[in-house]
Amino acid sequence: MSATQSSIQELLARRVPGYALEQPFYTSPEIYQLDLENIWYKEWLFALPAAQLQKAGNFNTMKIGTYEVIIIRGRDGEIRAFHNSCRHRGSQICKTREGKVAKLVCPYHSWTYDLDGKLVWADKMNADFDPSKHGLREVALRNVSGLVYICLSDNPPDFEEFARTAAPYLDVHDLNDAKVAYSSSIIENGNWKLVWENNRECYHCSANHPSLCRSFPLDPEMSGIMSDGSISAKLQAHYDRCAAAGAPAQFVINETGQFRLSRVPLEGAAVSYTMDGKPGVTKPLGRVTVPDAGTLLVFNYPTTWNHFLPDQSMAFRVMPISPTETEVTTFWLVHKDAVEGVDYDLQRLTEVWIATNDEDREVVEANQKGINSPAFVPGPYSEYWESGVIQFVDWYADTMERSLMPPTRMAAE
Ligand code: FES
Ligand SMILES: [Fe+2]
Repeated sequence: MSATQSSIQELLARRVPGYALEQPFYTSPEIYQLDLENIWYKEWLFALPAAQLQKAGNFNTMKIGTYEVIIIRGRDGEIRAFHNSCRHRGSQICKTREGKVAKLVCPYHSWTYDLDGKLVWADKMNADFDPSKHGLREVALRNVSGLVYICLSDNPPDFEEFARTAAPYLDVHDLNDAKVAYSSSIIENGNWKLVWENNRECYHCSANHPSLCRSFPLDPEMSGIMSDGSISAKLQAHYDRCAAAGAPAQFVINETGQFRLSRVPLEGAAVSYTMDGKPGVTKPLGRVTVPDAGTLLVFNYPTTWNHFLPDQSMAFRVMPISPTETEVTTFWLVHKDAVEGVDYDLQRLTEVWIATNDEDREVVEANQKGINSPAFVPGPYSEYWESGVIQFVDWYADTMERSLMPPTRMAAE
């Protein structure tokens, strides 16, 4: 066991539940590397909405730690993921974040791969060269109701529990009929866990999110479970009304706490995340017939939180860049036949969350700066406001402890 591994185990062992983590969890390059190895290289990661790749040959690239991945739609309509590394001498194949190709051609010596990863051309290789053994290395991929997840591990953990649980909630949103109206990627100068901690509470919302507060409910009784684990009568009535109309809503969280789904009402008369609370798109995406169904909140650690509304859907992707930098990508999804300028105005559709993302960036960056100080001492979370943060940090600590545990001890337990 490496020194770093034992020291992170010591830090985890002395962690005080209900308090922020100690400074190294947010600053140390060694712990960042362990985060990558024990979480990011092992877990299922949200990559993109399938709607991002409309046509055969459309691709996106992603960088996860030191891995580079190509996600591409094949001629058969299937989306696949491959390591972005040529099987000849390893060159990066796709250099851009997105594009459209007829074939994947390596820029170095022009080895050419079909969209399904098969090597179809390599000039003047030796007589015994077998192209079928030199296709692109595939990355595990699953598409659940239009949300594409990938896993870098050769032995991916179970995906079925999430797929089985989430599909009924997601299907009514028809994400396969969507198009990406807009996407944005911003860099937040903060550790990826600070981005999540900030996302999992609305303690900061009234002081920081004037636009979002027009539509997002601040009352934790309406946006989540109470700190004692119960559900308020008002929220249960909302769940029942949505479910009766065919839009599953009931709060559900899996045993490890990795993912949660819950359809919660918006504030007052708001039905969408617009400045006036009215729908952002007149041609709705999905078949949610309750106009004030609010937002289906989904999180799935470590990469994604989502909002699925009666008119539109939004998917967010978190990606660590360094110990103190995190990329947050937002996809705004509308019906594929909705026409910009007719069925929706792009500025109106996106302005609330563009502002909110930027406000979140500011608070996360200030949080990181304060934690960088040698004077930082972890403080207590509010159970009333920050039960979601406590839940995230517990999930992180449990997942790391499980992953770092020597296999022999694990087998003995
Ligand atoms: S490294 Fe790709 S063709 Fe040579
Ligand atoms: Fe926020």
